[in-house]
Amino acid sequence: MTGLTKKVQETLNYLQGAGIGAVDFGLILGSGLGELAEEIENPVRVPYTEIPHFPVSTVVGHAGQLVYGTLAGKQVLAMQGRFHYYEGYSMQEVTYPVRVMQALKAHSLIVTNACGGVNENFVPGDLMLINDQINFMGANPLIGSNEEELGPRFSDMSQAFTPSYRQTAQKVGEKLGLTLKEGVYMGFSGPTYETPAEIRFARTIGADAVGMSTVPEVIVAVHGGMKVLGVSCITNLAAGMQASLNHEEVVATTERVKSQFKTLVKETLAA
Ligand code: 6GU
Repeated sequence: MTGLTKKVQETLNYLQGAGIGAVDFGLILGSGLGELAEEIENPVRVPYTEIPHFPVSTVVGHAGQLVYGTLAGKQVLAMQGRFHYYEGYSMQEVTYPVRVMQALKAHSLIVTNACGGVNENFVPGDLMLINDQINFMGANPLIGSNEEELGPRFSDMSQAFTPSYRQTAQKVGEKLGLTLKEGVYMGFSGPTYETPAEIRFARTIGADAVGMSTVPEVIVAVHGGMKVLGVSCITNLAAGMQASLNHEEVVATTERVKSQFKTLVKETLAA
């Protein structure tokens, strides 16, 4: 066992001691979407601060926790709060929880986020299934020596987002009377929102939405052989498409659509 594998094993030992067992689905709950974890049955909650090798938060009282249990009949491990690259964590730190999910034998990852709409057909409040991503974050979590027991040196990203999961989610959306958008998520480092020129560039190269997360976690999930479903909440239109941007609007929109979002994820898990 080498570096990362050994660390993950130690984290795994701790979590198993805390009552966390086998996982079907890892869940990363984005800004304002963490409430879904409250619906997990027979929950085991472990604050990030107690978990060996988990990134250490510098922000007081905002660390977050893992919640393990049953949701829609599946064993899930949810991250209530994620680590962002713009907070100063390394790409390896941002994606460490995905390695832990992999070690807990999670076969799939459901990753969610709040993001800005770039596609002219999107409106704030839309939910978008991610069908592909563009890594524009300026880094990749797999840079460095590769540990073969975790995954291959060169990962195929041709089908990073599992088509059959998207199909299932679309069917669930129809049944729920939700029109789900579908598109490409482009990851920026943040913490600034993009300029109008950056958004024109993003649209030109094929982005439908822009955000500051998700891309690294998906890369590591694919490397680890996990299937992926990505769900974005379009909280606002990107720069140049509306007068100005602010975090309050992001929070207000997630608040408005979070019940739809929660139902979509639960019903997709159940399907
Ligand atoms: Cl417009 N950009 C980025 N990078 N993240 C966002 C956003 C925009 N709106 C919500 N999150």
